[in-house]
This record gives sequence, structure tokens and C-alpha cells, in this order.
Amino acid sequence: MMNNKPVIMVTGWLGQLGSELFDIAGNYPQFEFNFSDKDEMDLMNAEQITSFFEQLKPAYFISCGAYTAVDKAETDREIALAINADAPGTIAALCSQYNTKLIHISTDYVFSGNSTEPYKEDDVTDPVNFYGYSKLLGEKLVLQNNDNTIVIRTSWVYSTYGNNFVKTMLRLMGSRPEISVVSDQVGSPTYARDLAAAIMAIVTNPSGEFTTGVYHFSNDGIISWYDFAVAIKEIKHLNCIVHPIPTTAYPTPAKRPAYSGMSKEKITSTFPIKLKGWREVLEECLAKL
Ligand SMILES: NC(=O)c1ccc[n+]([C@@H]2O[C@H](COP(=O)([O-])OP(=O)(O)OC[C@H]3O[C@@H](n4cnc5c(N)ncnc54)[C@H](OP(=O)(O)O)[C@@H]3O)[C@@H](O)[C@H]2O)c1
Repeated sequence: MMNNKPVIMVTGWLGQLGSELFDIAGNYPQFEFNFSDKDEMDLMNAEQITSFFEQLKPAYFISCGAYTAVDKAETDREIALAINADAPGTIAALCSQYNTKLIHISTDYVFSGNSTEPYKEDDVTDPVNFYGYSKLLGEKLVLQNNDNTIVIRTSWVYSTYGNNFVKTMLRLMGSRPEISVVSDQVGSPTYARDLAAAIMAIVTNPSGEFTTGVYHFSNDGIISWYDFAVAIKEIKHLNCIVHPIPTTAYPTPAKRPAYSGMSKEKITSTFPIKLKGWREVLEECLAKL
């Protein structure tokens, strides 16, 4: 503890979710936040992680740092595993030692995508790419190594910060007369700001309950990447023509799940969290870009 306030450690500070948490941290003066990214605490360096715990003895640890380059992970396997599996395992073991509540972020890519209805938390996992595999291993280790763990699987994250689909679309639509976007992969966008607020709603749950286990969170609604692109175009009144294409016309090194809709019933019935519609929050984010 510093200043006698409970400490919240946040990794991945410079990423999308970490940046959004940083922005809203001022709304929670009852906590002392410690934000870190690679330069302060390298997730590949277990000794460094350990010394942060020794020094700060955090009440909460929010794991936003991750290896998120989905295509690169296919060849960068060792590093993806070190950051997405080994590091969370180490962090969870330290959480157990220091009695720290851990909120770990995972992904819809733990699922195969063969479903036709929203995935529930206990549905069978079967990742189709190495990133998904490394994140699934991370989930298992954090749940195994610390009893006080919440895993939140999220999907299609975007923000005004970092790199994401929304920013890529704005750039392409601003510079090309026509673009093509896949229409046979469907899922749910998540404005990182809403996920940050949901995380803090868990931390500040008025009942005091920290109900451990796996949860799903995204904005409400299931759409294709093509639908997402068309909405961006409409909201920003852009003239670019958007063509729907099948995944087969846009090959990538890592396979993606065709369907990654997730049920959010569990998180909204356990914690004081209300879902916002994907389009409403896309408008909010685009107003800032
Ligand atoms: N983005 C998505 O669409 C998506 C979808 C589902 C789930 N998720 C999950 O949601 C969480 C947050 O994602 P995000 O979109 O905020 O990711 P992000 O923007 O890529 O942020 C991740 C942060 O972690 C940092 N990091 C990477 N290697 C590190 C290391 N060795 N030590 C310390 N920090 C390191 C990154 O730094 P560099 O950028 O310098 O590498 C980056 O600042 C992650 O767990 C991710 O797996 C994301």
C-alpha cells in the first residue's frame, strides 16, 4: 500500500485497454494506481514482476499487457507463449502469495468459431490460431495459480488509443475510393473504454463480492467486419465504397474464428454492469477521432 490506499497495478498501460483505464483512474480516488508497460515492467522478466509485487503489495492486479499481434504469433510462438501464458502464470502465483485479486483479460479467439449461437463461458474451447492457444493457456494458468481470479474474455477491441480496425478503416476510407472487407466473420466489437468501466465496476462492486471465474464482455450486438466498416463509413459520412468479400479472398497467416459471438448474461447478472449497443458506442468513439 502507498498512502494507505489499496494499490491497483495495471499492465499494458500504453495499449488500448490500459490507456482507457488510465483515463478513468481519476474517478477512483480511493485507490492508488500503478500503471506499467514494457519499459517499467517487462512481462518477459519474472524477477521484475516479482519486485513490483514486493514493493507495491497490490490489492488488485489488472492484466492488460499481452502479445496481441495475431498473425505474427503464428511464427513468434515462443514470445507469444512467454507473454500470454508464462507471464500471467507468474503474476497469478504472486497474486496468490500477496492475496491480490486478479482480473485477467482474455479473448473470443479461444473458441473455434464453429458455433451458431453466442458462446457461454463454459462452452468447449478450441482455438484455431496460436494467439488463441497462447491466451487459452494463460487463462488456465491464472485460474490454477490464484483462487482470487476473474478472467474476462473480450472481442474486437477498439479505442481512440493504439491500433485497431476502426482506425485502419478511417485511414483506408480516407485514402481509397473503394475497399473490401470480410463479411463472413461475425462477432461483437468492444469499445475499450466500456471494458475499462466494466472492470472498475467489478472492483468497486457495492456488494463487495469478487465472484471469481470466467466472464464474457463486449458491446451488445453481433455483426460482421463488413457491417462494422459500413457503420464507420455512415457515421463519418465518408464516400468510399465498401465491398463485402469472403474470408477466402483475404487470406491471413492466422486463421480467424468465423463466429465469435459471446453471451454476456453471466457478467451482467453477477456485477452491476449494463451493456451498451455496439453502434451507440462506436458513435461515441468516432466523435473523438
Ligand atoms: N485487441 C483486440 O482486438 C483484443 C481482442 C480480444 C482480446 N484482447 C485482449 O485484451 C487485452 C488488452 O488488449 P489491447 O487491445 O489493449 O492490447 P494492446 O493495445 O496490444 O496492448 C497491449 C500492451 O501490452 C504491451 N506489451 C507487449 N509485450 C509486453 C511485455 N513483454 N511487457 C510488458 N508489456 C508488454 C504492449 O506493448 P507493445 O505494443 O509495445 O508491444 C501494449 O502496450 C489483451 O489481453 C488482449 O489479448 C484484445
